[in-house]
Amino acid sequence: MLVLGIETSCDETSVAVLDGDGRVLSNVVSSQLAAHAPYGGVVPEIAARAHLENLPVTFERALGEAGIGVPEIDLVAATAGPGLIGALLVGLSAAKALAFARGVPLVPVNHLEGHLFSAFLRSSGEAALAVEFPFHGLVVSGGHAELVRVEPERIVPIARTRDDAPGEAFDKVARRAGLGYPGGPVVDRIASRGEGSRYPLPVGRPGDGSNDFSFSGLKTAMLRELQKRGVTGDPLDPDSLAPDIVDLLASFQRAIVAALLDRVETVHKTDAIRALAVSGGVAANSELRRTLSRWGEAHGVRVLLPERGLTTDNAAMIAFAGLLRYRKNGRRDPALAAARSRWPLGS
Ligand code: KG4
Ligand code: ZN
Repeated sequence: MLVLGIETSCDETSVAVLDGDGRVLSNVVSSQLAAHAPYGGVVPEIAARAHLENLPVTFERALGEAGIGVPEIDLVAATAGPGLIGALLVGLSAAKALAFARGVPLVPVNHLEGHLFSAFLRSSGEAALAVEFPFHGLVVSGGHAELVRVEPERIVPIARTRDDAPGEAFDKVARRAGLGYPGGPVVDRIASRGEGSRYPLPVGRPGDGSNDFSFSGLKTAMLRELQKRGVTGDPLDPDSLAPDIVDLLASFQRAIVAALLDRVETVHKTDAIRALAVSGGVAANSELRRTLSRWGEAHGVRVLLPERGLTTDNAAMIAFAGLLRYRKNGRRDPALAAARSRWPLGS
């Protein structure tokens, strides 16, 4: 069994080939960072056009690296949402054409579900870990913060962000600090030499007793702190920042990690978590990985983390989620697969 995955929901064009054991045979990611960099964010029309240009060569490379040809593909999985509609349509239309031409099934995949199961994938050559239900999932990226309970037949939402996603907070703060885009990796690196307990920063929680996340208050507080120190967005060299700014960024990262851990702990008190799969771009964060792993060890919770290369958007996770869906739901008419800009997990 060979599964071809296609991901085009935002600014990465990616194609992957997995076998029926979830072994990653290839996972080619073509980033559009340079195309969007002059605008300081992702421009939907540019993204769609770039996917159209990048997809054919990404596809050829993925097949080449896996050492397979089109006739060997048994199943096609493509991201159908949530994401930028024009971008999604490029990958999904290509997937439909391929499935139709080959007469093989097509699975439309929820991008967040792709992240959710990415924690079970191993590096090339190794089969995926067995997925044991129920488990809890924390998806933290540039667009999402979702805590869910994953059962064999359904995904139950527990908490999501009311405003900014954690990756978005990293990106906006880094931009204001003159550290470029994306902000997560550079702040992560700077924070490793800072004192994260120096500036206790506020992390909001909705007053209605819900477990939802909120990161916009923290972001605003950070922007104010930067402004107070005369940092207004002019490019700064991450390696020669004032110690005070280094500690401030470390404290900001500490606050985000603390908020995520706090919610995991709260849920664990009422619904004993056996396994926690952490995923999405922010799951690459060193402090988050360390903190959650230690918490897991202390509480007997198995904490699954994707390898860093599988935390940001990629097609291997889409192929894997598609394979699991196909095994559960079977064959559907490819013509019915529709792109959805909004598609909450569990719906
Ligand atoms: O999952 P992803 O590739 O795209 C979305 O679906 O959003 O996540 C990208 C996000 C960006 O906001 C980026 O700053 C963040 O993940 N990110 C990190 C790290 N690496 C990437 N955030 C914190 N620490 C990191 N090491
Ligand atoms: Zn993503």
